[in-house]
Amino acid sequence: MQPDEMELARSQKGFMPDSEGEALHEAGLRAARSGLGPLLEIGTYCAKSALYLGFAARRHSAVLYSVDHHRGSEENQSGWEHHDPGLVDPATGRMDTLPEARRAVESAGLEGTVVLMVGESARIASAWATPLSLLFIDGGHGEAVAWADYRGWSRHVAGGALMAIHDVFPDPGDGGRPPYEIFCHAVQSGLWSTRDELSEGSLRVLERNGVPGRPAEKGSALGSSSPGASAGTCQS
Ligand SMILES: C[S@@+](CC[C@H](N)C(=O)[O-])C[C@H]1O[C@@H](n2cnc3c(N)ncnc32)[C@H](O)[C@@H]1O
Repeated sequence: MQPDEMELARSQKGFMPDSEGEALHEAGLRAARSGLGPLLEIGTYCAKSALYLGFAARRHSAVLYSVDHHRGSEENQSGWEHHDPGLVDPATGRMDTLPEARRAVESAGLEGTVVLMVGESARIASAWATPLSLLFIDGGHGEAVAWADYRGWSRHVAGGALMAIHDVFPDPGDGGRPPYEIFCHAVQSGLWSTRDELSEGSLRVLERNGVPGRPAEKGSALGSSSPGASAGTCQS
């Protein structure tokens, strides 16, 4: 990563420690180089992770789609721990992170690389048909939303391509369960292999098993167990 790129990504508002952002960038480089398809992230917020991935995509002339409804997750709302009053639209009183994200992408010179997609993740997933070289899951961390993201998007990851999940905490004292549960579910489905050398902190990276480049069949990347079923035995 170029020093000016790193400086921009590090200083952008968001929820991505430097070391995890740099690991995400490395995974992004690998994906963009593979030519298996575009990269896609769920959870733009103010585009911090989009800069880490966007710089990687630009290096290899790939595209990053970044999905968010820009209304914030539960913990971003007024009165919650991660609320930022500077991100409230004064006209409506609602959270709106799109202007900040858009400014960040423009300042980074990434408008030709990063496509901001505004909407509910599951709704966009239901109409998506393009195989992905990398999927980054960092949207809502509640059970229903996290599982909807996994179910809606993981099937679009091409064979040999990557899926990164943020905020995977084996110890419940460190953070919420759903990202850990979907990570464990993927590991235990046998459809994914962990890529420990690309993982860092709470950022876990998996590679889709199967024929390189072939899109996963509908539903096939999901495995068969139910939400939460694998949480007690994974610990990876
Ligand atoms: C943890 S933040 C993402 C942080 C970001 N990746 C970064 O690097 O700073 C989660 C984001 O997911 C978005 N989000 C939550 N649920 C969503 C959903 N169902 N559809 C689309 N976006 C959602 C929120 O608006 C919020 O901006």
